[in-house]
Formats: sequence, structure tokens, C-alpha cells
Amino acid sequence: MSITAATKVYGVIGDPVTHSLSPVMHNGWIADHRIDAVYVALPLRSDDAVVAIRALNGFAGLNVTVPHKEAAAKAAARSEAAVANVLRREDDGRFSAFNTDGQGFLDSLTESAPSWRSHVRRALIVGAGGAALGIGAALSPFVDTVHFANRTADRGEQTAASIPNGRTTRWDDLERAFGHADLIVQTTTLGMAGQPEMAWPVSFCRPNAIVADIVYRPLNTPLLTAARDRGLKAIDGLGMLIHQGARAFEIWFEIKPDVAKARQRLLAALG
Ligand code: ATR
Repeated sequence: MSITAATKVYGVIGDPVTHSLSPVMHNGWIADHRIDAVYVALPLRSDDAVVAIRALNGFAGLNVTVPHKEAAAKAAARSEAAVANVLRREDDGRFSAFNTDGQGFLDSLTESAPSWRSHVRRALIVGAGGAALGIGAALSPFVDTVHFANRTADRGEQTAASIPNGRTTRWDDLERAFGHADLIVQTTTLGMAGQPEMAWPVSFCRPNAIVADIVYRPLNTPLLTAARDRGLKAIDGLGMLIHQGARAFEIWFEIKPDVAKARQRLLAALG
């Protein structure tokens, strides 16, 4: 579809966003459904991100990534969470804010391990940043306890305290933590290309443990490779990316997009 003055503009804001896969994913779906829209990656650097985001009123919808998720929630006239990854412009010109990260993770988990709810009682989240909190909060109602293991103990305690059944686990005792968990979710940058290697204690895992990594560059992180070598269910980071995006697409266009097609396109884009 050709771009005209009537074409609606969507995009992802963050800093940095030049390597974002969201344009490939959303433009693919926009083409699938012949929508008169375009999706761009817009780097946003500002001393006052709330004001900067409010000024983006030419955008019909936005995804928001690091470091602007809190500012996005504040910039909106209404927000379903204190931290937002989706903005939708309403008829009154103001933004509504949503968070699809946690639900996107649950969708990905259910897609890859449909019966997870029948056996996951104890979840272990490695890390305690924004992603860890979003995933922990989403898992919380479905499990007995959500344990956070974080390099910086204070931050782990803060994150755990914001979830009713949140607990902390010592970073120097990951072996025990891995051994007790039914589900392990790695949310730090460890395992990303260029980051330090970590010797994950996967040999301590239970035989039916599920291991998920939210890193998707590389897709097969050392943690996932070790989990697969042990015969464990391993879930890569593209799943969460695609499912949070699918929910955003639905918020904007009221259409459920094809997640399998998105995976093919993103695999091609990742090379
Ligand atoms: P996000 O919002 O994407 O989760 P973040 O808030 O910057 O990102 O959180 C990054 C997480 O990765 C934190 O849990 C961080 O641990 P600290 O709180 O100790 O900083 C973790 N992390 C980053 N680099 C790490 C490393 N080299 N070793 C262990 N943990 C690391």
C-alpha cells in the first residue's frame, strides 16, 4: 500500500531503537491486513521524556522500550500500569497506556508449554529489573511463589516485595534455586551477544523444569543450549517479543495477528 497523507503512523520509541525488530514484525502484520499504516523506529532522547512523549501526538500508537516505559505511563491520560509498553491515541487526542509485556510472556509460555499451569508451583526469575517485575507480576496469580535471584540483593528484595507471593534467593546460591524451581526465567542481559558468559547450574534442574530466556540475540543463548542438552523444555526470547507485539497490534487495530508468520519474518531478520 502506498504511503499518503492519510497513512496512520505507528512506531517504537526508546534509546536505542535502531536494532529493534518491532518494525519488521508490525509492518509485516500491517501488510497482511492491508491496513493504511506504517511502523517506524524512533530514537527518543530527552531530559523530560513525559513532555517529549506527549508531543508525539501525530502517532496513532506507540510501543515503548527502555528507558521510557515509566514516562510513557505518566504521559498518558490513563494507564493500566505504572510502567507501559504500549500507547494508543484516543479520539480526544490523548494517549491511553497499556502493558502487554507480562501477558506476552504468559502467552509465549502457554504456546511452548501448554500444560505449564498444572505443574509450575515455584518460579525462579533471574534478575530484578523492569522485565523481571513484569513477568513476575504476571506469573504471580498462577504459582505458589515467585523467587527473584539478583546480583544486587537490595534490588531483588524491592522487586520481590512488590509481588504478593514474591521471595528472594541468594545470587551466590543459584544451584539450590535452580534445583527447586519448576520454571526458570532469565531476564538479565547475561547471554546477550557481547555480554559476559555465565555458567548456569542447569545440571541441578528438575527433570520437568521449563527454562525460558528473554534474550533473543542470540536466539540460542548458552542457558537455553544447556537446558536443551539436558532434555528440558527451553523457550527462546522471540516468543515474548512476538506475543507482547501481537497484543499491542490488537489494542491498536482490534485484529489478532498471525504469530507464526511473525516468527518466520523475525528469524529471517535475525539471519
Ligand atoms: P530491564 O528493565 O530490561 O529488565 P534493567 O532494569 O536494567 O533492565 O535490569 C537489568 C537486570 O540485569 C538487573 O537485574 C541487573 O542486575 P543488577 O540489579 O544487579 O544490576 C541484571 N544484570 C545486568 N548485567 C548483569 C551481570 N553482568 N550480571 C548479573 N546481572 C546483571
